[in-house]
Amino acid sequence: AGLHAAAKASGKLYFGTAFDDPELSDLPFAALLNNTSDFGQITPGNAMKFDATHPTPTQYTLSRASSAVSLAAANGQLLRCHTLVWHSQLPGWITNPPTPWTNDTLTPVLQEHIHTLASAFKGRCAAWDVVNEALNEDGTWRDTVWYRTIGEAYVPLAFEVAAKADPSVKLYYNDYNIESEGAKAEGVRRIVKLVKDRGIPIHGVGLQAHLVSGSAPSTADLARVMVSYTALGVDAAITELDVRIKDADAGATAETRQATEYANVIKACKTVARCVGVTVWGISDRHSWVPGTFKGEGHALPWDKDLKKKPAYKAMIDAW
Ligand code: XIL
Repeated sequence: AGLHAAAKASGKLYFGTAFDDPELSDLPFAALLNNTSDFGQITPGNAMKFDATHPTPTQYTLSRASSAVSLAAANGQLLRCHTLVWHSQLPGWITNPPTPWTNDTLTPVLQEHIHTLASAFKGRCAAWDVVNEALNEDGTWRDTVWYRTIGEAYVPLAFEVAAKADPSVKLYYNDYNIESEGAKAEGVRRIVKLVKDRGIPIHGVGLQAHLVSGSAPSTADLARVMVSYTALGVDAAITELDVRIKDADAGATAETRQATEYANVIKACKTVARCVGVTVWGISDRHSWVPGTFKGEGHALPWDKDLKKKPAYKAMIDAW
């Protein structure tokens, strides 16, 4: 039995992974992705983002996103849909408008974008990451086109539009560096309350968990901060787990430590009643966003470049 089977046996909804379209032509890799004993849930890593789905003001390009929906359906995997409102991977018409955005011009754009995507995949997404990475490290609002133009009201507005378009999907706030207590975790709780206090649905907090080996959270710290979110009446999910290692440290010793760090995340989810599942941000070091984004780091996923299982795999099975 694999990772998803083990998660289910512990009463969770899923263990899953992100994937990106080009990876599907790597057939041995695709076979791992399609193995539902390990992966009962998938997340399209890029296909549903604003730049991929809405390249010009009047044009929606949903074919890549639809393929992800079809793949999940064909495999019988749950789908986490990612993401409706973010500051990154925006098309030029949003970041460089011919005339500067105002509250009156940007609000309908935000509403239409969310309505169109959430309606298009209505009933197909188990969860939507409605708002992604709205916070700075100190818990204040990140300076984005959405915040600058609309103010914090863009957050409850986004959840409201998504809820109307797909009343049964679970709506998440998703962010990184919120895996232990601190100012940013406090900001997350502020966001949950901001939405709830307006009577608008929010169902979960997604903890991305892009972790750094050697400074990954303990089981207790991670469980404690998850409970601080779920105590507000929402679910929690680990949505983008990877544990990166410095190239200079790569090797058996580093992989042993990494295995413990992966297992600690599983143990934390297992202990928190409203932690619904864990998603890794990719399967194998052959296809990982880490080396391209963090110079001199990598080796972050449970399978190595040769698609062989690293110690993290068995450690996670045992932890479930
Ligand atoms: C990453 C993708 O994996 C890359 O392929 C892309 O080039 C950049 O974005 N937080 C998120 C994800 O919410 O959408 C990001 O995904 C990783 C960080």
